[in-house]
Amino acid sequence: MAIDLIIVDNYEELSQRAADIIASCVEADPACTLGLATGTSPIGLYAKLVEKCQAGEISFKDVTTFNLDEYRGLNPEHNQSYRYFMNHHLFDKVDINKEATHVPDGADPDAEHACAIYEQLIERNGGIDLQLLGLGHNGHIGFNEPQDDFPAKTHLVQLTQRTIEANSRLFDSIDDVPREAYTMGIGTIMAARSILLVATGSSKAQIVHDVMYGLVTPQVPASILKFHPNVTIIVDKEAGALCQQ
Ligand code: F6R
Repeated sequence: MAIDLIIVDNYEELSQRAADIIASCVEADPACTLGLATGTSPIGLYAKLVEKCQAGEISFKDVTTFNLDEYRGLNPEHNQSYRYFMNHHLFDKVDINKEATHVPDGADPDAEHACAIYEQLIERNGGIDLQLLGLGHNGHIGFNEPQDDFPAKTHLVQLTQRTIEANSRLFDSIDDVPREAYTMGIGTIMAARSILLVATGSSKAQIVHDVMYGLVTPQVPASILKFHPNVTIIVDKEAGALCQQ
């Protein structure tokens, strides 16, 4: 049940190690299903995967993907939508079949429908083999913010002020940041057969420590990963500064 914590020297090494783990999953099963994340942390590893694919070392042609989350109210073409991010950093640069890439439908105003459809799609696909995660400063994974329980399924969330502020760096103004999102639930994430979380920088040191050694509580959503049988966390030395190795 222990989390496998890997502390590396820098972001470059983190990106390489994480890309290698994902590439191994694809090599072992070329028709595997990957759960993917957006945010700053995975950009380097996506670039490594693009390099590997363009060098002919791996192929995504039979891979299926499900992203963790999407802002509600943004069209896929919006340059801050998570669909746009994924196209830009990965899907448009590798040989993946776009039809097999899934992101919750942020343009669907019917939250119940959008979330139920997404959950069904994951289930019908046979679940997720490897789920990639970033880590919020408050311990959020996907858009599962600290709260009183662990939400099980894909659902609508109201973003916290802290997350809105953190994400505002990517928008023209803070008023443009959507206030709501659709996200896989903690149950959806925990059902993945393996999980890979990446975190970088000194601002993540405390939360990485709390996830590794703190109590399991929905106030630190990622703390539940301790109950998953197959989790790897890769951090750079700044983010791992408060962890023993
Ligand atoms: C992204 C996501 C978020 C981020 C988290 C960390 O799809 O679900 O949970 O992983 O906010 O973001 P960065 O990597 O930008 O620090």
